[in-house]
Amino acid sequence: MTEEVLFQITKDNLETGLRGVPVGYCTTSTVDPQKGLFYAGLPVAALDKWEPEKVIFLLYYGREGTPQEVEQFKKELHRRATVASETKKHIEMLPRKGHPMALFAAALLIAGMIEGKSDYKEDCLDLIAKIPELTAIVINYHAGWGKTPPSKPELGYMENFAQMLNVPGGKDPKLEHVFKLFNILHYDHGGGNLSTFVGKAVASGLEDMYGSIVAALNALAGPLHGRANQECLEFVQKMLEQLSEKASEADVEALIRKKLANKELIFGFGHAVLRVEDPRATVQYELAQRYYPQDPLVKMASMIRSAGSKVLKENPKIADPYPNVDAISGALLTAAGFPYPAYYTVLFGMARTVGISIQIVYERKEARGGKGTPIIRPKYLYKDRHAGT
Ligand code: MLT
Repeated sequence: MTEEVLFQITKDNLETGLRGVPVGYCTTSTVDPQKGLFYAGLPVAALDKWEPEKVIFLLYYGREGTPQEVEQFKKELHRRATVASETKKHIEMLPRKGHPMALFAAALLIAGMIEGKSDYKEDCLDLIAKIPELTAIVINYHAGWGKTPPSKPELGYMENFAQMLNVPGGKDPKLEHVFKLFNILHYDHGGGNLSTFVGKAVASGLEDMYGSIVAALNALAGPLHGRANQECLEFVQKMLEQLSEKASEADVEALIRKKLANKELIFGFGHAVLRVEDPRATVQYELAQRYYPQDPLVKMASMIRSAGSKVLKENPKIADPYPNVDAISGALLTAAGFPYPAYYTVLFGMARTVGISIQIVYERKEARGGKGTPIIRPKYLYKDRHAGT
């Protein structure tokens, strides 16, 4: 037991969303305000060419696997990958109304009812293996794109996802690469992001893995968290409509100033922890420039990147005037032939299921010498709303 003081709580810390308050350990990843995201000690930008299974091994075991170990791990995931036909049948009977994140959460609850093993480690590996097919079923069904083709996990984690998704008009071969990069970059983001925290909190009451992940996905569905990627693309599209494909950076800057003067939101900037451009955004800007430099949305997103930061930096009250992960992901996916913003948060959820389920295994099976963390139960101070009136 150490007496080291990590953080001193004062009244100023109340009602601030627990900003900066340490609550535990995260064994998968960390977010440094100046350097961004690290998976098991490695900067995420250095993993952009890794196979998804190799990155998942890194997060699961907290170290880089040898080629043989990664091969074994792939086989383990393949063995667990196929979604039961009963699960699929019931998902395809759900209503299609509303945002697809609701369908995604319901689908995972059904998968848990039918395929859950009530064992955190088993369900973690099963879910990681099955989530590409579950996601493809949800998107194809919600979008009315027809029956999901059989899963072929031996093709590779994201190659299989891409072949199961019935994107109308076929797929640009580069889309598979864009999906892969998006997937790797969204696996994990420290222990305290809302969806991860919610998933672990629900699991602390000993709800099983599937139910905990469903709770996490509902947390991810909000526009301040996972759905920000959809909102950001809509913002970039609107900027493009209001200006034109011929707009210059000076035009973009002027429109951003006008929007701020009208108290409108500028999407894609700022983060609760980061104080630099999100490296997950930097990697995506680079790929967008390499593959689609002439795409009007990519060009607009790139101009917003520099003009937005320039304008926001002028306001000393803005702690993080830099682009975040959502600033470019939607433009990149659209340019790659996936112009369906309603599904971007579902893609985020597919990826984040990996990190959250691994973090839940740590908290339930390994933390505190194997005892696990206790049920989440913070203290609230009573406030009489009528006192002094
Ligand atoms: C995330 O990836 O979860 C977001 O950047 C939000 C966060 O880290 O709080």
